[in-house]
Amino acid sequence: MSVGVSIPDFLYGTAWKEDRTPALTELALRTGFRGIDTANQRRHYFEAGVGQGLAAAYRAGVVTRADLFLQTKFTYPGGQDHRLPYDPAASLSTQVAQSMASSLEHLGTDHVESYVLHGPAAGHGWTEDDSETWAAMVKERDAGRARLLGVSNVSLRHLVQMAAAGAETPGFVQNRCFARLGWDRDVRAFCQDRRIVYQGFSLLTANPEVLRHPLVAGIAAREKATLPQVVFRFAQAAGMLPLTGTSDARHMEQDLASRAVTLSADEVRAIESLAG
Ligand SMILES: NC(=O)c1ccc[n+]([C@@H]2O[C@H](COP(=O)([O-])OP(=O)(O)OC[C@H]3O[C@@H](n4cnc5c(N)ncnc54)[C@H](OP(=O)(O)O)[C@@H]3O)[C@@H](O)[C@H]2O)c1
Repeated sequence: MSVGVSIPDFLYGTAWKEDRTPALTELALRTGFRGIDTANQRRHYFEAGVGQGLAAAYRAGVVTRADLFLQTKFTYPGGQDHRLPYDPAASLSTQVAQSMASSLEHLGTDHVESYVLHGPAAGHGWTEDDSETWAAMVKERDAGRARLLGVSNVSLRHLVQMAAAGAETPGFVQNRCFARLGWDRDVRAFCQDRRIVYQGFSLLTANPEVLRHPLVAGIAAREKATLPQVVFRFAQAAGMLPLTGTSDARHMEQDLASRAVTLSADEVRAIESLAG
C-alpha cells in the first residue's frame, strides 16, 4: 500500500485484557507481533495500558516506534460506557478530534498507522453522521495524525452506500468473520476489487464448526499444526489480515508460526466454502 506504511501479516488485538493489557502488549511484541490493534473505548479496551506496554517494550529495547503498526478506533457514544474520551455534547467532528488526541496521549505517539471507525452509527446503512465522522477522520489523516483509515463492523450495504455518498475509500475493513457467510465473502470481494485490506477477527470464536471439521483436522495432522494455526494460515492465504487476541504466550508463538503451514490452492478454496 502507498503512504509508506508497512502492514504486518498479523495483528495483536488488545480487547478485554483490562489490568493485563500492559504486560500482554509487551509480551506480544517480545513474541514478534509488530501490529497492535486497540480502540479508545474503555468499555472493552484499556488503551492507556497498551501505551504502557509499548513504553516498556521501547525501554527494554525490544522494538522502536518505527517498527510498529499501531491501529486504534473512534467509537460513537452508543458504543461507550460512561468513560468517554470526548465531550458527548460536542459535534461529531469535535468528538473525533478529541478522541484522536486522547488516543495519541494514551499511546505515547504523534500518529497512528491506522485509524478506524469502530462501527457505523446505524445497522441499516451509511448515514449522514457517518459521513461527518468520516470527513473528520480524513482531516485527522491529512493533519498527519493517522496514515491510513478504516471502517469496522460494516456490511456490503454500508460500504456501497459509503462509496455512493462520495466518501473516500477506506484502506481497511475490519469485520467479524463468519465461515457460514463464506468468511464474509461479499465484503471481502468488495475489498479485493478496491484494494482495501480486509482484517478478520473472531476467526476462531465465530467458527467452532470449522475447528471441528475433518478437512481442517486432516490438514492440521499433516502439517503437525494446531487447528487455530490452520485457520489463521487459511485467512492469510485467502487474502485477509487476521487478528488474534490470545492471552496465552504459547498461543502467541503458535499464531505467528502459522505462517509456516502450507496449504494448496485447492485446500484454500475448500476451506473457503466449507461452511457457507
Ligand atoms: N472491531 C471490533 O468491533 C472488534 C470486535 C472484537 C474484537 N476485535 C479485535 O480483534 C481482537 C481479537 O478478538 P477475537 O474476537 O478474534 O477473539 P480473541 O480475543 O482473539 O479470542 C480468541 C479465543 O480463542 C482462544 N484460543 C485458543 N487457541 C488459540 C490460539 N492458538 N490463538 C488464539 N486464540 C486461541 C483464546 O484463548 P487464549 O487467550 O487462552 O489463547 C481466546 O479465548 C480483539 O482483541 C480486538 O482487538 C475488534
